[in-house]
Amino acid sequence: MTKFSQKLLSWYHSRKRPMPWRGERDPYKIWLSEVMLQQTQVETVVPYYEKWLKKFPTPQHVAQASEDEVLKMWEGLGYYARGRNFYEACRDVVRTYGGKVPDDSDSFAKLKGVGPYTVAAVQSIAFGRPLPAIDGNVKRVVSRLLTLKKPPSQSLSEIELFLKENISKEEPGNFNQAMMDLGATLCRSERPACSTCPVSSFCEAFKKDEVGTFPIPERRPSRPHYRIAIGIVWRGDKILVTRRPSKGLLGGLWEFPGGKIEKGESAKECVVREIQEEVGLDVKAGNSVGVIRHAYTHFSIEMEGIPCQYVSGRPKALGCDAWRWIFWEEISSLAFPKANHKLFPLLQKTNPFSNSNNIIL
Ligand code: ADE
Repeated sequence: MTKFSQKLLSWYHSRKRPMPWRGERDPYKIWLSEVMLQQTQVETVVPYYEKWLKKFPTPQHVAQASEDEVLKMWEGLGYYARGRNFYEACRDVVRTYGGKVPDDSDSFAKLKGVGPYTVAAVQSIAFGRPLPAIDGNVKRVVSRLLTLKKPPSQSLSEIELFLKENISKEEPGNFNQAMMDLGATLCRSERPACSTCPVSSFCEAFKKDEVGTFPIPERRPSRPHYRIAIGIVWRGDKILVTRRPSKGLLGGLWEFPGGKIEKGESAKECVVREIQEEVGLDVKAGNSVGVIRHAYTHFSIEMEGIPCQYVSGRPKALGCDAWRWIFWEEISSLAFPKANHKLFPLLQKTNPFSNSNNIIL
């Protein structure tokens, strides 16, 4: 074991953050935790992880559920492709591997949504394979240790080489988790705690007093901002919800139909047009209930809610995967994007249009 690895592991054994999946031997649970932890903080993940395992204690339980049930359990965690892929992968594990998570990296890597990070994290923690897991925290730590002159995305081979040389063969899973914990707790982006760092004597950036310079920032495109209008279409006691196409952003989640407001268009004109394009219905737009704002990772939106009165037509899945007329109370049984949730409190829960057509054909 290298000196670096010794120092890191002894720090980890005395300081590691308690997490419900630490000490876990079941590869399914370790895999679930790693999928949920991608792009998401530990505090956010813990309640989702525990609730998930109560409902789906094994891959068989996941495989028997519907995609809607799975997405409902993922609602609010974001990056829904992770949930959909995990669902597909569990079905594959049951179909192809008799419900046992494969303990060889090649088979495991073939499962849907399982990329190099997940292979390394799960195979090292669950099965003791010495594969370095490289996430954002680890990239920052190694960039500082080696004062890498290029942004992490352009320094992957140097990062990987350093980790391969240092990963503990006895405790590869602990080594990987120690690197991640170090990045999350001490070697933070802002105000790094170098004075308590167990490996500062190995850190080139620390020795040169240049920790703030590393990692060299990635060049990022600026985040676009969109104005969106959505229609809450009332027909009798029911409202219309549509399901987003399963491929792409927020795929498989339910929402109110609507879309981007075009140049020169009002929010009311936008919902009338979008509802015609997406579901082929004629509606009459009422008055706005207000605007909410939401920042996604790659763009931000402001979203205006417009109650609409059904006029004519039968819904067709033109720009969506499915549609349903539901009672307001059914909203909570379907998975909606966060921005939709922000609008819920502003909405009237009963039909605001008098003399509406109360019969649903
Ligand atoms: N981030 C993702 N997986 C992690 C783990 N196992 N420990 C600490 N941080 C993590």
